[in-house]
Amino acid sequence: MKFSSKIEKCGYSPIRKFYSYQVECEKQGKKIHHLNIGQPDIQTPRNFFTAVKDFDEKVVAYAPSPGIPELIGAIRRYYERIGVELSDSDIIITTGGSEALSMSFQCILDEGDELLAPEPLYSNYLTFTTMTGGKVVPIPTDPANGYRYAKRELLERYVTEKTRGLLITNPGNPTGVVLTKEEQQVIADFARDHGLFLIVDEVYREFVYNGQKLSSFGSFEGIEDNLIIVDSVSKRFSACGARVGALISRNKELIAHALKICQARLSVATLDQVGAAALYDTEESFFEEVRAEYKKRRDTVCEELGKIPGVSFDVPEGAFYLMASLPVDDTDRFQRWLFTDFETDGETVMFAPGDGFYRSPGLGKNEIRIAYVTNSDELRRSIRVLAEGIKRYNSL
Ligand SMILES: Cc1ncc(COP(=O)(O)O)c(C=O)c1O
Repeated sequence: MKFSSKIEKCGYSPIRKFYSYQVECEKQGKKIHHLNIGQPDIQTPRNFFTAVKDFDEKVVAYAPSPGIPELIGAIRRYYERIGVELSDSDIIITTGGSEALSMSFQCILDEGDELLAPEPLYSNYLTFTTMTGGKVVPIPTDPANGYRYAKRELLERYVTEKTRGLLITNPGNPTGVVLTKEEQQVIADFARDHGLFLIVDEVYREFVYNGQKLSSFGSFEGIEDNLIIVDSVSKRFSACGARVGALISRNKELIAHALKICQARLSVATLDQVGAAALYDTEESFFEEVRAEYKKRRDTVCEELGKIPGVSFDVPEGAFYLMASLPVDDTDRFQRWLFTDFETDGETVMFAPGDGFYRSPGLGKNEIRIAYVTNSDELRRSIRVLAEGIKRYNSL
């Protein structure tokens, strides 16, 4: 049987590809410390569950293709509170931020088209772009420089006649880099001057730890036609399983095209939208507490990593990830070994190998991405298990 060349070109997610190893380890009774996946343990606000329980229709019907009006209205009011004026028709509800990403790429990329994106990047961007026939052109960054990429001369170097857009995550996954307001302006000017789509993945908007109040790109003027915002309830409300996100743009043509895909895929899950609409009533204190908790977790991870000889990293300013360089030859191989040949007190550790976060072949081989989404005690233990693993692997 013949498969599409596009799917043949895609790789597995570095975050999930070791699942079968995980299952095997667990069968053997080994405890696995999870540093691999951005699944927070923070409790989802109760209003999600209450709204779903109170659902009182006789039929679980299809929702409208662009999303239910209650949720669209809730998102519009949320944006108003953070200084972004939208109309309901600028918002399309999607199955997670993931569908907003793939839908955006389907609307703007043709075979051979290019999307600029700073590297390392969220690995699933590669699968979604590859499936359109387009490709990511990586903008190199450097941890020694805090992974900063919003420099006009750097971005200019990668523009060709095939460039259709610039894709960024702010705050960044996997690096934790957070753009300053001035840097955001550089990005906005660059996209506007070149007539490029600016796809901003802001799913971690609330998670900034240096006291900076992050502005959404939606509040910048002059880029109304360029801007596509990718948003989600997954991380904001610790509701990853709700699978509710949004594609937001003031570009009417883009929205009109995206609606064709929405109508073809019928609708996003009705009950999850009902629950998600209620989430937007969550009090501000929830975010303050969650932010303080993630900051503590980040500090714990950095403190413990700092004790391991040969490990280097840049302290993340936002989101809940960190890229670390380890003193091992190949973190993919090291991860397999941690599953099959290692344990300390019946425990091992799981991370996401770094090369999957790079588009450039050969990069990230000795790096890992850590998600600091479990409590500080658990994280401390996880990093200590990692340290023990490094020591033993290197003495083989
Ligand atoms: C940067 C980024 N964008 C988008 C997503 C998609 O999340 P979801 O589809 O759960 O909204 C994730 C998930 O981890 C992410 O890290």
